[in-house]
Amino acid sequence: AAAPRFHGPHQAAVLTPPARATAFTSFDVTAADRRELADLLRTLTDRARFLTTGGIPAPTGITAPPPDSGLLGPDVPADGGLAVTVSAGASLFDGRYGLAGRAPRLLRAMPVFPDDDPDPAWCHGDLAVQLCADSPDTVLHALRDLTRHTRGALQIRWRINGHNPPPRPSGAPRNLFGFKDGTSGPDPRDARLMDRLVWTGPDAGEPPWTAGGSYQVVRLIRMLTEFWDRIPLSEQERVIGRSRDTGAPLDGARETDAPRYAHDPTGEVTPLDSHIRLAHPRTPGSEAHRLLRRSYSYDRGTDSNGTLDQGLLFCCYQRDPVRQFTTVQKRLAGEPLTDYVTPFGGGYFFALPGVRDRADWYGRALL
Ligand code: HEM
Repeated sequence: AAAPRFHGPHQAAVLTPPARATAFTSFDVTAADRRELADLLRTLTDRARFLTTGGIPAPTGITAPPPDSGLLGPDVPADGGLAVTVSAGASLFDGRYGLAGRAPRLLRAMPVFPDDDPDPAWCHGDLAVQLCADSPDTVLHALRDLTRHTRGALQIRWRINGHNPPPRPSGAPRNLFGFKDGTSGPDPRDARLMDRLVWTGPDAGEPPWTAGGSYQVVRLIRMLTEFWDRIPLSEQERVIGRSRDTGAPLDGARETDAPRYAHDPTGEVTPLDSHIRLAHPRTPGSEAHRLLRRSYSYDRGTDSNGTLDQGLLFCCYQRDPVRQFTTVQKRLAGEPLTDYVTPFGGGYFFALPGVRDRADWYGRALL
């Protein structure tokens, strides 16, 4: 796939469907002051622009290290489908850089929800960079480039890689529980809907610099896949609320059929506590709680007990994290799915507005 256009009012990977490969990295910012923070964001912009548009790395002197890791060969190709998404965490606005009064109005550190088992080493961060591309080597090349050019101002806090299956005619990609994931959600081609559900700015009472940005919620959720594989298919389908084979709702025949909960008030067909019914009950007010999900599977090998260490790098975007993510997450509290998953990390971030042109850079209007 060709690289998404780099310049624009929004960062490109918010609306594009999840790619094949991703690396989500959360950083602590170690820049000494606001001027160094601005330098950092300018450097990130220059590198992201180069990496997504491709070209020949500028030569260095013969005794200096080579200008590029070489992972993709001498020319950096533009066709790796790379997209870079830069977001800020609440801690960036804690006063170190004189930004305390300029934080997005609703940005907080991720709270602990009832079914969470947070590991502090895998939570929060000042700045997050998500790299999405057609293949892991394009992602890793970009990560090596970005960390190399920002060494003095950024320190990695945590990082997780994710993947998705290739697009298949059979519908949404399947997650590690074998269910199609990403079927139901607001249509990113509907610009007015995206204005209502995804993008924010001064029209939402936010500081002017936020125009075109979006709240990004990331949740690292371990999935107990071996335990899941030992329960009957009918039980799995009642936990999720959809057919595993087709992805159809339990009262429908096709993946794209809309569930009709009004005809099933007692949950005989689709249990009232099934994941999809709680996540989106399709009652009059619940349309406003919809989120734009952009999730990936992850696989970290095996833990010290010899259990597969796998799960979901859940990511969603929204105009209002309280009205949208928090409302949905609270409705999901105690759902049967919680027996098979453990959220252990992630964070709340604000995806910065897009870089508009060659003179613009991430966060220019903020700083
Ligand atoms: C839908 C799995 C976590 C929100 C779905 C579907 C599956 C699924 C299979 C149905 C297909 C689809 O419409 O995409 C999972 C798994 C999770 C997880 C395995 C944890 C490992 C979450 C979380 C949230 C969430 C943390 C938000 C707090 C939703 C929403 C829908 C959905 C909003 C769409 C419901 C609809 O419109 O009918 N999920 N999910 N999910 N999930 Fe999750």
